[in-house]
Amino acid sequence: MLIKRRATIQPSEITPEAVYRSRRRFLGTAAAGLLATPAFAAGWLGEKIPSGLGNPEFDEALTPFDLASSHNNYYEFGTDKSDPARHAHGLTIDPWSVEVVGEVGKPGVYTLEDILRPHDFEERVYRLRCVEAWSMVIPWIGIPLQAVLRRFEPTGDAKYVEFTTLYRPSEMPGQRASGFFSSIDFPYVEGLRIDEAMHPLAILAVGMYGQVLPKQNGAPLRLVVPWKYGFKSIKGIVKIRLTETEPKTTWNLSAPREYGFYANVNPEVNHPRWSQANERRLDGSFFGNRIDTRMFNGYADEVASLYSGMNLRRYY
Ligand code: MTE
Repeated sequence: MLIKRRATIQPSEITPEAVYRSRRRFLGTAAAGLLATPAFAAGWLGEKIPSGLGNPEFDEALTPFDLASSHNNYYEFGTDKSDPARHAHGLTIDPWSVEVVGEVGKPGVYTLEDILRPHDFEERVYRLRCVEAWSMVIPWIGIPLQAVLRRFEPTGDAKYVEFTTLYRPSEMPGQRASGFFSSIDFPYVEGLRIDEAMHPLAILAVGMYGQVLPKQNGAPLRLVVPWKYGFKSIKGIVKIRLTETEPKTTWNLSAPREYGFYANVNPEVNHPRWSQANERRLDGSFFGNRIDTRMFNGYADEVASLYSGMNLRRYY
């Protein structure tokens, strides 16, 4: 497979604003041979995926693509880490549209192409820290969420953004489980405060490792919010609702004491059942590499001001 992989990433390359701002912006150049998804290979999205990755100097290893696309959480396909890669191939993602509703001047049903067309894709190498205390480093390809939201013209009452994943039990076996065997309620819903959603680090991803997003990673459209636990980074988005009140989110509803609405990565606030002080950086070895977890997943310089004055033990 034609994936350019850099062995390492400098820690400073992953985080700071100067870096992600200067990161090469990809224009819509063709990328024949890089495409993972046959349905999209001949299509419009595939042609816009860039043919190279952004930044050459690295120090903190990228997670191998094979691992990032085979160790997944996507409960719509089952709760085992290998379930999404095993079952997601059956998901139809073309055509795809996103319904935009609520506190916006331009509600409507937008095709994926409508959503993406005006924007240049950017590569963002981010840490992904799961609430289960494992982590990866992934080179995403996407567009700033704020640029997309602005096009829908949020009203003055838009205080939060709610995202909803596709509900299609016929293609998502995890949605067919019921009663004792059901894990969480579907459709999966996540949300951000509007200023979080407008933060330049928050992106909508359509690719990773220089190719179209694998279905198990949330194709064709997922959120990536790198300073929050991974469950905020909702996959397979079909609906965006801007609202005046805090959305009711899936994990928060299922276990409110364990999963807060904010879910900012915080090594000082433990999960009720395990420590969040460190994490297993997955590298393909049996145990992974145990490292300290950083406040806001290492993005404190960029995002801490969003929460000034807030008690982060209460708003976990
Ligand atoms: N989105 C949906 N729709 N369903 C899910 O189960 N799992 C979340 C998040 N997005 C999930 C989801 C969790 S817990 C994590 S850690 C990340 O996806 C994992 O993303 P990855 O599989 O691409 O590493």
